[in-house]
Amino acid sequence: MASRKQELTTAEWVKVFGQAAAIGMLHVHLTGGEPLLRTDIVELVAAARANNLYSNLITSGVGLNEQKLSALVNAGLDHIQLSFQDSRAEGASAIAGVNALSKKIDAARLICETTLAFTVNVVVHRKNIDRLEELIAFAQELGPQRIEIANVQYYGWAMENRDLLLPSREQLEQSLETLKRVTSGAKAPHNDTVNAGLKACATQEQEISGSDEEITSAAKAGNDSRGIGTAEAVPYQSKDGDSTVEAVPCQSEGKITSGAKAPSNGVVNAGLKACATQEREISGSEKEMTSATRERRQDAAETAGETPALEETLAAAHIQFVTPDYYGKFPKPCMGGWGRRLMLIDPAGRAMPCHAAAVIPDIQFENVRERSLKSIWEESAAFQMFRGTEWLQEPCKSCPKQTQDFGGCRCQAFLLTGDASATDPVCSLSPQRSRVDDVLQIINAVKETPPPQTQFSYRTNPQ
Ligand code: SF4
Ligand code: FES
Repeated sequence: MASRKQELTTAEWVKVFGQAAAIGMLHVHLTGGEPLLRTDIVELVAAARANNLYSNLITSGVGLNEQKLSALVNAGLDHIQLSFQDSRAEGASAIAGVNALSKKIDAARLICETTLAFTVNVVVHRKNIDRLEELIAFAQELGPQRIEIANVQYYGWAMENRDLLLPSREQLEQSLETLKRVTSGAKAPHNDTVNAGLKACATQEQEISGSDEEITSAAKAGNDSRGIGTAEAVPYQSKDGDSTVEAVPCQSEGKITSGAKAPSNGVVNAGLKACATQEREISGSEKEMTSATRERRQDAAETAGETPALEETLAAAHIQFVTPDYYGKFPKPCMGGWGRRLMLIDPAGRAMPCHAAAVIPDIQFENVRERSLKSIWEESAAFQMFRGTEWLQEPCKSCPKQTQDFGGCRCQAFLLTGDASATDPVCSLSPQRSRVDDVLQIINAVKETPPPQTQFSYRTNPQ
């Protein structure tokens, strides 16, 4: 993380947004850290709107009050993703290092009173995944159009705490059973549309399916939370070796859980119920899903070993479940391919192909203060390094999946093997898969779940 005095100024960010739009980028994701700590956040949203960029604020919700939210809406904000660490204060505080749950719930209530598209992200891990049904019920009570249940991905802070966060195989299989059970009443869509609240979801699915002709996004979730949250679907490998779903459908209306009660009922107040009405209103402004998008998604589903019927059901999904990479059979197409559709600009102006790329040594990341976005995108060594498929080593070099997953995640390959150009070792075809299996063996040898009060290692605040 950069210290505050190193951060880009308002004028510098506005210039970057203009350059992003000029080279054809479509989305800007304002993330953190915590983007609401920027005192100019409203101006930044207005600049995104002025440049016709779809804006998504990824926030903890702490610091969001009625006045700020209203200003953001008026400035043209399109979407909010609110992140939760748990449905219970104890578990949420253990991850966040501060008790903020009730503030987040208040933020959800305020968001529901607006017309913003709204996603709730809940991070699951070894200590809370056994309460998955409760977590889903909790998220539903908050009233979003979309719920993302994301297992922790192991970068940065999460890597340091991996032993406390990675679920056992038994926990993961149990969670998949829970998902199937609580979504068993899900219906496929009745037509070829998705509602406006799912715009972000549709975009993400396009990223997963990998379209050669599309260069979409801008600074996507530079997310500490990719560590904790950016969703990319990974086909899960069961202990029998079968691939199974990486995401599950839910009903497009009403509750999907049966009998589960959200905790903290005193806190989740009745105002949130108004969102059910709002959701129907928002779905009135439906956006047509193109047939090309459907075809790409079907290709992706078939690659993952799913049936077209399940893919049709997934098209109705308001819940996305992201499995832990380490239990995957094949890696995720991280960032949709390095340098292929996403630029992350960190607070100090460094342009990177992903949020974690700085872990890879000896890469020089250009700064938007010194070079235009176009020039960085097209010419900088950092963006060329793992772009396309020419650089791939075996077994990726001769693998038919190379244009789907691009050999997996470069940062994960480096973190697990010391070689950023290696096949992502979560791939079952990787000669270094044993590095992942060794971790899983240790994790699965520990039967008990660590108690919530077990101390995590926390990040320090840069000065
Ligand atoms: Fe993907 Fe490489 Fe594994 Fe093939 S060998 S599935 S390209 S990571
Ligand atoms: Fe996957 Fe960096 S996080 S390439």
